[in-house]
Amino acid sequence: MKKIIITVDGFSSCGKSTTARQLAKELNYVFIDSGAMYRAITLYFLRNHVDWNNTPSVEEALKNISLEFVYNDYTGKSDMYLDDENVEAMIRDMVVSENVSEVAAIKEVREFAVEQQQKMGEKKGIVMDGRDIGTTVFPDAELKIFMTADITVRVERRFKEMFEKNKSITLDEVRNNLEMRDYLDTNREISPLRKADDAIVLDNSDLTPDEQLQIALGWAKERMQ
Ligand code: CDP
Repeated sequence: MKKIIITVDGFSSCGKSTTARQLAKELNYVFIDSGAMYRAITLYFLRNHVDWNNTPSVEEALKNISLEFVYNDYTGKSDMYLDDENVEAMIRDMVVSENVSEVAAIKEVREFAVEQQQKMGEKKGIVMDGRDIGTTVFPDAELKIFMTADITVRVERRFKEMFEKNKSITLDEVRNNLEMRDYLDTNREISPLRKADDAIVLDNSDLTPDEQLQIALGWAKERMQ
């Protein structure tokens, strides 16, 4: 079987990372959550009071940012490291979610992230999830999946996830954040979120994680022949 590149794009919180991670595990591939990179850059900008509307400030800040995924034996997942610090928990905070789509729309930020993402895929055998992976990062990927799910289902899923860590979060806050990010991600100038022409749609509103995995795995195995 040949090694391929699998891209998983779609709206906020529609199960992209779960599908991509499961697929990578089954195929013994590398899994990359590209959103974690934009979240870590946003965390750096917030912590260091970087004015991201000012291009020279952004360029200067990016020179000091080093991003790395490090496998965590305890959770069995890769954690995002920003300048040698494990920021996996912090990048999921609401304050990062509220700012990440603005930061991710900046040209210099995208160039910085996309260059690293493309390097990670040089040897293939990778599953990467995000917004522009099938359109910009790996336009020649062998399998492109575009995930969708009903907004109510997406809000409930993300609320459950966030409520476990922060009991004061409300359903409305989560819904507003998802809708705002979907809007900004779809309408930005550079690499907006859209389905690549050759991507297959996977709507998982009514699918269990195992059902969605079996569907995606079937597509992957066909492409690997
Ligand atoms: O987990 P969720 O779907 O909510 O979002 P994420 O994958 O962690 O991505 C966070 C944000 O990063 C998105 O809302 C986008 O603004 C940005 N992003 C992007 O612009 N391009 C990507 N390839 C991945 C994420």
